[in-house]
Amino acid sequence: MKVHESLKSSDLEEERLLLELDADRLPQHIAVIMDGNGRWAQRRHLPRVVGHRAGVQSARTAIETCASLGISNLTLYAFSMENWCRPKAEIDFLMRLLRGYLRKELPTIHRNNIRMLVIGRTDQLPDEVRADIDRATEQTAGNTGMNLAVALNYGGRAELVDAFNRILDRVRNNGLANARVDEEMISRNLYTAGLPDPDLLIRTSGEMRVSNFLLWQIAYAEIYVTETLWPDFSRAKLYEALLDFQKRERRYGGLAQERHRVMA
Ligand code: IPE
Ligand code: IPE
Ligand code: MG
Repeated sequence: MKVHESLKSSDLEEERLLLELDADRLPQHIAVIMDGNGRWAQRRHLPRVVGHRAGVQSARTAIETCASLGISNLTLYAFSMENWCRPKAEIDFLMRLLRGYLRKELPTIHRNNIRMLVIGRTDQLPDEVRADIDRATEQTAGNTGMNLAVALNYGGRAELVDAFNRILDRVRNNGLANARVDEEMISRNLYTAGLPDPDLLIRTSGEMRVSNFLLWQIAYAEIYVTETLWPDFSRAKLYEALLDFQKRERRYGGLAQERHRVMA
């Protein structure tokens, strides 16, 4: 009875938040640093990996919620280049979890017209993980709904290094001795080529840092850090992040609207 009641009240809370959202002012691209799985488990005196498993459900919820809101691009930070420093058992678990997720969720992702892409140095991932990634990205390549970019073996600096090397190769191969780079060319050579820059960067678990995520692309992203640990990041929590985003004034170095009037 109690469970039933609490489920009902969380549904009502979700509905209330959803009604508050302005459908015309949603971000085009949300990027998420899904952090806090280990702490979530440790607080329950459970092994860290239990937190990773619980985090998968939050990822599923975030994907489904963004797709149903009509958000065009969602990028999830799943495994950083620095995460290889963790114990082998944790890394192996994460890789298995990822493979299980890809296999199990691919039909749903495809049915929902979501295009999956993977950003990062995927060539350095284990062969079997790469095979699952290739299957998911190839099968969903023609989908026209939300772009879901999963950052795997991702590092923001490595992405820039790879972009510069791609540009250099092209310059050398085409004998373009007088070529110069510009911002557009750099953006076009990033793993995220073709995606707009994130409008909203969410980080769970309270850390006030970007941990080498999308360094170039977040130049003017609105940053939302919540104390909520990733496995507790529910649909309602995502709505709260979006409501907070809708209160922001994005000035891009300009002036607030009323300041324009005062100055005129
Ligand atoms: C985020 O949770 C998931 C990955 C980095 C793979 P963490 O594993 O970093 O959890 P905390 O930060 O230790 O709590
Ligand atoms: C960032 O979280 C990477 C992912 C969420 C995949 P970390 O837990 O690895 O980052 P730090 O160590 O707190 O900076
Ligand atoms: Mg962490």
